[in-house]
Amino acid sequence: MPPSRWSAGTGPGPIAPDGCAVDFYALMTDNGEAEIVHEAAGPGASILELGCGTGRMTRPLTALGHAVVAVDESPDMLAHVTDAETVCSSIQDLSIGRRFDAVLLASHLINVPDDDVRAALLATCRAHVSDTGCVIVEQHQPAWFESASETEHERNGIIMRLHGVTRPAPDLLSAMVEYVAGDRRWTQTFTARQLTAPVLAESLASAGLRLDRYLTKDEAWFCALPGSDGV
Ligand SMILES: C[S@@+](CC[C@H](N)C(=O)[O-])C[C@H]1O[C@@H](n2cnc3c(N)ncnc32)[C@H](O)[C@@H]1O
Repeated sequence: MPPSRWSAGTGPGPIAPDGCAVDFYALMTDNGEAEIVHEAAGPGASILELGCGTGRMTRPLTALGHAVVAVDESPDMLAHVTDAETVCSSIQDLSIGRRFDAVLLASHLINVPDDDVRAALLATCRAHVSDTGCVIVEQHQPAWFESASETEHERNGIIMRLHGVTRPAPDLLSAMVEYVAGDRRWTQTFTARQLTAPVLAESLASAGLRLDRYLTKDEAWFCALPGSDGV
């Protein structure tokens, strides 16, 4: 599991290859995301969750009645997922030979700057979704690429700060996010690519998917279906 070229992290406890701090994610709770997924997937849908982390969304999805298979490349993250079947694998290399009613690709993983990696992530989604199923994706809000600036907010007693925002190219944003919980402090630097509507449509089409609808007004969450436009 080589570290990611596009993100890196520091702080106490294990750090996943993409720079995410395991102990930080273990503190985080669902913030309404599971309900968005539940609504889109439908009652009782089987769900393949890609990049599940410590199971922040896995737990409420399971509680809502979904059979979830949770995938992550970090065994330290997966050690926290106790209420679902887990698979330790990179998303790009995943091939578990089963198809699901819904495949979940959250946490802005689709905004990876590398087009080949994005293509591989979406190919895994397509390979594991049933022909009548849906792929549920969370991207960075398109408007955030223009509006992002130094910010600080607090949730559940954890302070989150965004620092050092730069735009190394018109569609790229680099920054460092800092999390402080008591005397523990983690950082993660990252670069994200904005997916304009044409780029998103082309990325989905290359994987045999098409945009069905946005699930939230800010267009951060959307649902894609197998097939090409017009099919
Ligand atoms: C930002 S965390 C979010 C975790 C979880 N989705 C949540 O919302 O709490 C991203 C997770 O995806 C995993 N991840 C990132 N890239 C991955 C890849 N290419 N293959 C497998 N796991 C990956 C990381 O190890 C990490 O646990």
